[in-house]
Amino acid sequence: MRSLDAFAQDKLDDLERRHLRRALADTVREDGIWVERDGKRLLSFSCNDYLNLTQHPTIKQAAIAAIETYGAGAGASRLVTGNHPLFRQLEARLARIKQTDAAVVFGSGYLANAGIIPVLIGRDGLVLADELSHACLFAGAQLSRGLLVPFRHNDVAHARELLRQRRAAHERTLIVTDGVFSMDGDLAPLADLVALAAEYDAWLMSDDAHGLGVVGGGRGSSDAGNTHIAVPLQMGTLSKAVGAYGGYLCASTPVIDLIRNRARTLIYSTGLPPACVAAAIAALDLIEREPGYAALPLKKAKAFTQAAGLPEAQSPIVPVIVGEEETTLAASRLLADAGFLAAPIRPPTVAAGTARLRLTFTAQHPNDAIVRLATIVRNKILRH
Ligand SMILES: Cc1ncc(COP(=O)(O)O)c(C=O)c1O
Repeated sequence: MRSLDAFAQDKLDDLERRHLRRALADTVREDGIWVERDGKRLLSFSCNDYLNLTQHPTIKQAAIAAIETYGAGAGASRLVTGNHPLFRQLEARLARIKQTDAAVVFGSGYLANAGIIPVLIGRDGLVLADELSHACLFAGAQLSRGLLVPFRHNDVAHARELLRQRRAAHERTLIVTDGVFSMDGDLAPLADLVALAAEYDAWLMSDDAHGLGVVGGGRGSSDAGNTHIAVPLQMGTLSKAVGAYGGYLCASTPVIDLIRNRARTLIYSTGLPPACVAAAIAALDLIEREPGYAALPLKKAKAFTQAAGLPEAQSPIVPVIVGEEETTLAASRLLADAGFLAAPIRPPTVAAGTARLRLTFTAQHPNDAIVRLATIVRNKILRH
């Protein structure tokens, strides 16, 4: 046991020396935007609750009603007895929003990516991944045991060059990318990637964790431009704008049936609690009903980037890139002193030298607070 503790302590000391040690901070979320931490009330610009639906009375009520009807937990894997009737409703709703034939719901977005990719790609396969894709896309690719090759961020020409060199040596090839990049807030060139995939008989999967509910009229990154882009594999999460928990894949009927039969993270993991599924259904109802409300987080992000003198926001996520870890921690403390929560994001979540404050804007952020935040960022952090 001693060597185990010594190992852990050594690793922690090393992280501490490099300003990379992390700690869990108790955070009480009062409502959609205010939090309490260390006895201090802060306006949060660090939640992914873009539409503030985690606190919405109708959605909370739907979760409570589901507990009353179906209980607190699912009790087993969906393939055994955990498939309560709410799943069918949620999957139909997701398929409709994403304009696919079918959908399947997983325990989380991470579990979805860890489960989907190994079903589609085996040892002989190839996975091309945008280098800034979320960690769970890389985890899924690694679990597939295929060859994983990153391409430069949003660089379709680089992806094409890699396909030209490598495609012929693999029976199956999958291209994966975030639809909205989680740490940078920019959008993937999905139309170009769809065309590239078709050219090389590769399959494309987008991760729309940060797109659903907030871009493309709430439908997500496939609808962010003027026309709908038919991405054949659209995964995402119910934990950000949807305000609940769980992951999903929207695709054709045979693909979804195969995933239900083979995805290990679906088969060998307990189904989502009924409350999460009911909350997600109620949230998707609201998103479909109120596109004007779904547009607010991006509007607020754009107001911020304009006031801060930053490039125009493409999504509710705006990175304020500071550079070094220590300076980023200091910038976060400066904002906390001014009443804002802006969590510092450091390597390995982002590349070395690009530590940042990752700001997220939500429907209910007051405009005057956004201007005040922008002024501090512009004058004291970026020093424009
Ligand atoms: C792009 C992206 N994909 C997947 C996930 C994982 O989703 P979940 O939190 O539901 O596991 C996240 C965030 O956590 C994410 O940002």
